[in-house]
Amino acid sequence: MAEKETKVKAEDNGEFEYKDIKDLEGVGSAIASKLKNAGYVDIISLATANPLTVAEVCEIGETTARKIIAEAREEAKMNFMSGLEFEDKRKQVQRITTGSKALDILLGGGVETQAITEFYGEYGSGKSQVAFQLSINAQLPPEKGGLGGHVIWIDTEGTFRPSRVEQLAIAQNLDPKTVLENIKIGRAYSSDHQILLVDKIPDIINADPKVKLVIVDSMMALFRAEYVGRGTLADRQQKVNVIMHNLQRLADRFNLAVYVTNQVMARPDVLFGDPTVAVGGHIIGHVATYRVYLRKGKKGVRVARLVDSPNLPEGEATFEVTSEGVKDAEEKEK
Ligand SMILES: Nc1ncnc2c1ncn2[C@@H]1O[C@H](COP(=O)(O)OP(=O)(O)OP(=O)(O)O)[C@@H](O)[C@H]1O
Ligand SMILES: [Mg+2]
Repeated sequence: MAEKETKVKAEDNGEFEYKDIKDLEGVGSAIASKLKNAGYVDIISLATANPLTVAEVCEIGETTARKIIAEAREEAKMNFMSGLEFEDKRKQVQRITTGSKALDILLGGGVETQAITEFYGEYGSGKSQVAFQLSINAQLPPEKGGLGGHVIWIDTEGTFRPSRVEQLAIAQNLDPKTVLENIKIGRAYSSDHQILLVDKIPDIINADPKVKLVIVDSMMALFRAEYVGRGTLADRQQKVNVIMHNLQRLADRFNLAVYVTNQVMARPDVLFGDPTVAVGGHIIGHVATYRVYLRKGKKGVRVARLVDSPNLPEGEATFEVTSEGVKDAEEKEK
């Protein structure tokens, strides 16, 4: 009854436990690596793929493509959860305080595990500052709004600053060296490098199971730089999509929070509607669970607007970034 045991174990963890693609029948390591290179990184992406496309992009026979997709579908079907099991999984959701009560309330109590929270906004709007604050707050004990957890930070712009972390740690009466020790930084130098670093995360977590927060600051900078003027937007979107799905899988599998940032450019030519355009196009929007649009208000106040959420009303919150970190805005004009 080995199968039953595995199933019970998966349910205990509240996780969907799928096979790896390479363990499907008829998928050798050659085909597995072709599939992964083409973005079919897990059972779900394969199960929902079109056989003709898979055959073409992976340069395998159509019959083979159909066979392995059928297998992936069979595997995916086995893992439906009942609503009750799903509810149990949701019960394990934990939250990290942002440092501002108003912002926490907007997010339904803080930044959630099992979800991707995206903050997008113009340069200087405070996206990285929120990341710094979360990297400290995640380490706070639960009674102070943290998870007593460790942090993985993927820095694509070279804007991670240990000195800022130390400043924020001291403001919370934490030992700055310990706080820095608990943040693992991966500096990505190209979009492929960024993909590779995200792929490495499970290894880091196996070595350090206390990881509770993964930050990607910023999600799109390298993609934007590399794909400028190239007629390969679809290719770019495909890669971003793969990263975002991998991050969501990590969030589910390890019950951790994912925080990503995305710079937007102001569009002065747009008079009506949203005058900014998220650099990642719609790909990020459809994958992130919570999307928050940040802008600078008057007198240094930051205005956060919850744009997209499965269960929370749209709304706005204001906060401040001070030398001590993210705080509720003092009562003053917005
Ligand atoms: N030590 C500090 N004390 C007070 N305010 C600070 C401090 N450090 C940064 N800030 C505030 O945060 C702002 C920068 O915000 P942040 O770096 O988070 O922007 P961002 O949204 O990440 O921008 P970009 O898209 O360029 O990365 C500064 O303009 C300043 O107002
Ligand atoms: Mg930044």
